[in-house]
Amino acid sequence: MTELKLQNLVKRFGDVIAVDDVSMTVPSGGFVALLGYSGCGKTTSLRMIAGLEEPTEGDILFDNETVLHLAPNHRNIGMIFQRYVLFPHMNVEKNVGFGLRMKGVDRNEIRKRVKEVLDVVQLAGYEKRFPSQLSGGQQQRIAIARTVITNPKLLLMDEPLSNLDAKLREEMRSFITDLQKRLNITTMFVTHDQIEAIELADHIGVMFDGKIVQYGPPEDIFNRPATPEIADFMGATNLIKGNLIEKDNATRCAISVQNQRFDVMVDSPHEVGTPVISTIRPEHIELHPAVKDGAPTQNILNAKIKSAVYHGGTLSYYLQAGDIELQARDQSTRRFSEGEEVVAHLNPEHLWIFPEAGNGA
Ligand SMILES: Nc1ncnc2c1ncn2[C@@H]1O[C@H](COP(=O)(O)OP(=O)(O)OP(=O)(O)O)[C@@H](O)[C@H]1O
Ligand SMILES: [Mg+2]
Repeated sequence: MTELKLQNLVKRFGDVIAVDDVSMTVPSGGFVALLGYSGCGKTTSLRMIAGLEEPTEGDILFDNETVLHLAPNHRNIGMIFQRYVLFPHMNVEKNVGFGLRMKGVDRNEIRKRVKEVLDVVQLAGYEKRFPSQLSGGQQQRIAIARTVITNPKLLLMDEPLSNLDAKLREEMRSFITDLQKRLNITTMFVTHDQIEAIELADHIGVMFDGKIVQYGPPEDIFNRPATPEIADFMGATNLIKGNLIEKDNATRCAISVQNQRFDVMVDSPHEVGTPVISTIRPEHIELHPAVKDGAPTQNILNAKIKSAVYHGGTLSYYLQAGDIELQARDQSTRRFSEGEEVVAHLNPEHLWIFPEAGNGA
């Protein structure tokens, strides 16, 4: 097992800063996802770790020793790409054993190790098949087998599931989680898919414009985004401007939005009177018919349904509440129609406010 450390890593391509002062540590046996928009610098980061790209500045350390002087084949890294290329003219056994053959490992030993690793990826008995005789998911598992058979210090995966259909992708997610735990191999996984990062990784580094803007466990990134941009990227699309009007104790505060009071179940480091941005995920906004008795009277906005989009199982509503546009997601069978007046309840437990008032918004 190996600890991976990136120290003030920078990569420039001419005027483009692809990776901008990235520092992070992946603990030995840890599973970190680099998550960010297309073009934010994820692949470039992986390529520098693998030795395929030279950093402009900064350092890369395995177990506290720099590897910058080491060529890719001396870093002992397993890399799995979105477009995994199996050798089409070789059967599974030859494909999986390729790395060991290159190292001059004995033929019987190779056969034994191939058998072991095919067991691990649940494809025992597929030795004689050719890639064209395998499904997409099976090919991907063979690509993984071929990589892990060499016992790499690190596993680097660059969007390995994005070519698979939705169902297979889900299967492969749990397969990769299990495999990573079983082999206990330090892993960095690159994706632009929030759900994938949350399901797979024990820590997520959110990357925007070459910078790590937040690093932490998935629950933190999901429930306590550091900035409005991260909240938006993680699907908490409602950003509501307000003012801090009350601080009770370490667990709650209150904000005012359009002269309505909203309780929020988080502490605020700010002074009363500070402008804040508050956010809530669409699935945490509860809608009630405005005309009915029994609708909540606290933490509410009176709103009008602008439009509704059916997703299969859930409905997204776009709402107008004064100057504020909101998105709500509803799983119930009840339907609201366009133009209908509703009461939108913002659950105090699910409201979150940003420590840096107005920062970057
Ligand atoms: N060899 C290169 N020469 C010039 N610019 C490059 C080179 N490689 C990458 N870039 C630029 O660096 C930035 C980061 O690219 P990178 O491939 O790391 O993004 P990414 O996060 O992997 O994106 P995606 O999700 O689309 O794969 C982009 O603006 C890209 O155009
Ligand atoms: Mg990429």
